[in-house]
Amino acid sequence: MMLTLRNIETYYGPIMAIRGVSLEVAEESIVTILGANGAGKTTVLKTISGAMDPQKGSVTFQGEEITGRDPDRVARLGLAHVPEGREVFPFLSVEENLRMGAYSRRDGDGIKSDLELVYGYFPALAERRKLEAGFLSGGQQQMLAIGRALMLRPTLMLLDEPSLGLSPRLVAEIAEIIKRLNEEQKVTILLVEQNAKMALEIADFGYVMELGRIVMEDPCERLMQATDIQEFYLGMKDQGVRGRRRWKQRKTWR
Ligand SMILES: Nc1ncnc2c1ncn2[C@@H]1O[C@H](COP(=O)(O)OP(=O)(O)OP(=O)(O)O)[C@@H](O)[C@H]1O
Ligand SMILES: [Mg+2]
Repeated sequence: MMLTLRNIETYYGPIMAIRGVSLEVAEESIVTILGANGAGKTTVLKTISGAMDPQKGSVTFQGEEITGRDPDRVARLGLAHVPEGREVFPFLSVEENLRMGAYSRRDGDGIKSDLELVYGYFPALAERRKLEAGFLSGGQQQMLAIGRALMLRPTLMLLDEPSLGLSPRLVAEIAEIIKRLNEEQKVTILLVEQNAKMALEIADFGYVMELGRIVMEDPCERLMQATDIQEFYLGMKDQGVRGRRRWKQRKTWR
């Protein structure tokens, strides 16, 4: 396994956000974590990349236990985290942002060829390499955030809701690029999404989280067939809408 989480518990102060999560990500696969708002998806990714320390449990990356290690050291092992909400440096140019992703590398030639590789995947960034990132559209900023993570030459990439706020056309474009990075660059992907349709289409295996726990796990083609998934996440069938409303209400009751 490329990544293994065993019984992770993570807190915000006294609040237990992750309640015993175990999951696995196989080499060169795409694995997705689905779940409603506040289910704990982002917290799981932060716990993997070292942005948060778990109270209990272990995180193992390529056979090495990395639980509670500094984000910087985790990144150097080849584990890149693209956080929720993009977080590009608005006053730096596109190219400066990309170079920030390679800050820990000393191989100038490798950095140069990886810049071209990123521009190959994202032609919109190539056309704007001198532009300040703050002037990019939301979709372009998302591409820049992914491009910056690629500059680390990652073996595993954590993506937190890359489709958030994008038009359907851009969502399809980002999905296609994630798929290509996985196939062509052999980057293993752990993808957090609220866009279940997109995630289930490109991922091999999926976990569903609810209130800090994993409540379902299966190959994506099986998840797509599950009635709960169809009703709550894919909005299929007539009772889909009603189902989702019930889901929301249930969340506020607890
Ligand atoms: N900074 C924080 N302080 C306190 N509680 C937090 C904080 N961030 C998140 N939480 C709580 O932890 C739980 C998990 O949040 P998390 O952000 O991981 O969920 P999520 O699945 O990523 O949600 P979303 O789909 O909205 O991004 C939620 O109950 C949330 O309210
Ligand atoms: Mg989140």
